[in-house]
Amino acid sequence: MKHAWPLTRRAAAALLAMGLIACASPTDKDYQPQRGQTGKDVIWIPTSPELVNRMLNMAKVSGQDIVYDLGAGDGIIAITAAKQFGARAYGIEYNPQMALHAQKNARAAGVADKVSIRQGDIFEEKFDEATVVTLYLLPHLNLKLRPTLLKMKPGTRIVSHAFDMGEWEADDKISHEYAQAFLWVVPSAVEGIWTLQEVDSNAQVQLNIEQSFQRIGGSITERGRKTPLLGAQLRGNKIAFQFMGADQQLRSVTAQVNGNQMQGVMTLQGGQLPIEATRR
Ligand SMILES: C[S@@+](CC[C@H](N)C(=O)[O-])C[C@H]1O[C@@H](n2cnc3c(N)ncnc32)[C@H](O)[C@@H]1O
Repeated sequence: MKHAWPLTRRAAAALLAMGLIACASPTDKDYQPQRGQTGKDVIWIPTSPELVNRMLNMAKVSGQDIVYDLGAGDGIIAITAAKQFGARAYGIEYNPQMALHAQKNARAAGVADKVSIRQGDIFEEKFDEATVVTLYLLPHLNLKLRPTLLKMKPGTRIVSHAFDMGEWEADDKISHEYAQAFLWVVPSAVEGIWTLQEVDSNAQVQLNIEQSFQRIGGSITERGRKTPLLGAQLRGNKIAFQFMGADQQLRSVTAQVNGNQMQGVMTLQGGQLPIEATRR
């Protein structure tokens, strides 16, 4: 009996410690997140189901897509992307309890096979396989992510609830009640001097492109004569522009960019010629 009390205290301390560990454990089944709770870089407030739907519609999410929600919260965006749009969806969430809670929500929604929410920091985890990235963060966090997003595969769609990307203008925008959301399509990097030639005739011109995000302009130089690009557009890896040839015929070029190469067609007087271009 001599040791009964100290042993009981020890046992109680052990039980207390276990209890405390259980309370803080990310396996806690009763975990209920609170709107406005602190997060690493931003608090948790969920996007409404209606706006999630509209954001994913704006990005034209389909069964071909891999969607990443950066700062996944309770998983609503990833779960909706899988359940309503058929996508494979991932979430990165810093709060470990929240990440488990989101994965539990995915199981309850019947999409655990298509949704994976992992604990991690969005500024350290990789998400370069994404074809669609969704965000509900803060303006300065969007700007911090911007260089990484711009390096993603051209054509990747970025959707942000509430906050824009500074001088990278949105390609589309929706308003929903008091909220708004923006869409960007990652543009190919096309700036530089290109040699553009007709594949069949080898006739060449010099194409000079200037670029600011998805906005492009520039000129064509043909036998020493410089003429501006007209109506130049870039969306993802698809480029289109017109120019007036030395023969005063308007030419329209549409092409697909792949690194330092372009391939496409030039429309001239109703006919189409295959063209290709190489960046110098
Ligand atoms: C405003 S909530 C958005 C939740 C969800 N994306 C939505 O739209 O409903 C932001 C989430 O990001 C998480 N978060 C904050 N900083 C983070 C970081 N550095 N890495 C990963 N998650 C983070 C927060 O815990 C919170 O759940």
